[in-house]
Amino acid sequence: MKDNIVLIGFMGVGKGRTARALAARTGMYAVDCDDLIESMANMKIKAIFETFGEGHFRKLEQSTAKWLEDSVKSTVISSGGGFYKVRNLKKLGKIVYLHADFEEILETIRTDARAEKKIRKRPLLQDLDKAKKLFAERLSYYRQAADIEIAVTGLTAEQVAKEICTALDRKKKKK
Ligand code: S3P
Repeated sequence: MKDNIVLIGFMGVGKGRTARALAARTGMYAVDCDDLIESMANMKIKAIFETFGEGHFRKLEQSTAKWLEDSVKSTVISSGGGFYKVRNLKKLGKIVYLHADFEEILETIRTDARAEKKIRKRPLLQDLDKAKKLFAERLSYYRQAADIEIAVTGLTAEQVAKEICTALDRKKKKK
């Protein structure tokens, strides 16, 4: 087993900041799938969508998942909101779904000091009605893919990281 922890969940739920808090707490390193894709393609996610389309981005996500499977262990992996669909997800490590309701996620983004930038860089957050539908479509898939689910509303990234550690420990002891 690779001992990775993979964070999945909808855009803006806090996968990146939680991954960093979890890394600081455990001494593991953290990597972010979208950052890996951006550096490998030498393009921003937004530009990849605009230039090559979403299908191409999904292929890059899949090849990143393969690279992670072959190359990474004992690492916290934060992923993009659609990464749960990669074929080898379960092979990457323990899957942790971070949950908040759609309206709560929007509220968190809107009240962030960098709200405008956070929305601008996410192609699938441009039309909020479509984003809401996407959230509803994905919810059960996130839950099916996950080993554990953490409700993040009202918690800091550090508190979420602590809950993840507790839940994973509990799961280990049950085995
Ligand atoms: C996407 C989420 C984004 C990014 C891309 C597509 C999605 O990542 O991977 O824009 O399909 O939900 P975040 O979840 O970090 O915003």
